[in-house]
Amino acid sequence: MAVTPKSKTSGSRVLGIETSCDETSVAILDYAVRGTKNEVRLSHHETATQIPIHRRYGGVVPEVAARTHIAEVIKLLERAGVFASGKPKFDAIAVTKGPGLATALRVGIEAARTLAYITDSTLIGVNHLEGHLASAWLVPQNRARWEFPVLVLLVSGGHSELVLMKDFCRYQVVGRTRDDASGEAFDKTAKLMGLSYPGGPILSKYATRGNPDAFRLPRPMIHDPSLDMSFSGLKTAVRILIHELGPRTQDVLPDLCASIQAAIVDVLTSKTARAIAAYKPKCLAVVGGVSANPHLQKELRKVASEFPDLIMLEPPKGFYTDNAAMIAAAGSWHLARGKSDSISKLDAAPELDL
Ligand code: KG4
Ligand code: ZN
Repeated sequence: MAVTPKSKTSGSRVLGIETSCDETSVAILDYAVRGTKNEVRLSHHETATQIPIHRRYGGVVPEVAARTHIAEVIKLLERAGVFASGKPKFDAIAVTKGPGLATALRVGIEAARTLAYITDSTLIGVNHLEGHLASAWLVPQNRARWEFPVLVLLVSGGHSELVLMKDFCRYQVVGRTRDDASGEAFDKTAKLMGLSYPGGPILSKYATRGNPDAFRLPRPMIHDPSLDMSFSGLKTAVRILIHELGPRTQDVLPDLCASIQAAIVDVLTSKTARAIAAYKPKCLAVVGGVSANPHLQKELRKVASEFPDLIMLEPPKGFYTDNAAMIAAAGSWHLARGKSDSISKLDAAPELDL
């Protein structure tokens, strides 16, 4: 059974803007309800990554990020045809309001507020985390199989959460990290090994050539009955191990990477299995930058296969890391429910939760 948002309108066009961290992104999403089906078309989607700029500093520098967003967001909006002659027509302008870097968020928000005012469009402030949830819905095969409740493992550079989606716009966070996010665990351990930023994708590449059992690393809270996670102990263990290995570290890099990856993925998959058993969702999804990790995808499929009635949704290929298409998609859910924000009041919410 396909599940569709209860839309008051038969079709709508949403402009999405994302500037919460180190990607500037603009998307135009056309969305319609035909019978019981959603028709979703991305007529424009472009992301300008700042990764090469921040790599020089070994991580994201907020002030540099904000300044770069200012230059990039205008270029991207221009290329999306937003400033073409005549008033651009959008039913809504959806922009990330948080969580993220305050100064970076404000660049997108100010652009969206101005455009919403000039074009007389509805303004929708989107929670970045809800955007990641919506990334799973952007995949056509997923929309066709989508049934609530959907359990989502949301794993990014800033967040690691297990979210139960009861409906569009109705979420319950059932588990979360108590310290570092899993993406942070990848990035910080990679940095300890001298790999460049962001370390997650590089570490995962090295891991394909390594032995995951070469080093026994801790799996914090794996036996804890709660659905919460912790990754900071792993980082400390890796720091000590690298100190002990000394110059030999570089010789055993693939084994070390495979062992770190196995420890992170073990924690994520065992907590997900516990959450499935506790909440009995109809579907399972994985989203966020870390969902690009092939080992995590493989191990989650194994977990899902242990629950015969569970539908494993596809990881959101093309929408893993931060992008505006997912912000426009979440915006379309809000629009369909008549939710909007005030143009004069919308402001950045850097610590926003789901
Ligand atoms: O969702 P995202 O773009 O940004 C946040 O909202 O935080 O996620 C970025 C994170 C980084 O920590 C990056 O290292 C991680 O996703 N990442 C990966 C992989 N690709 C990206 N981690 C592990 N394996 C990957 N293949
Ligand atoms: Zn993100």
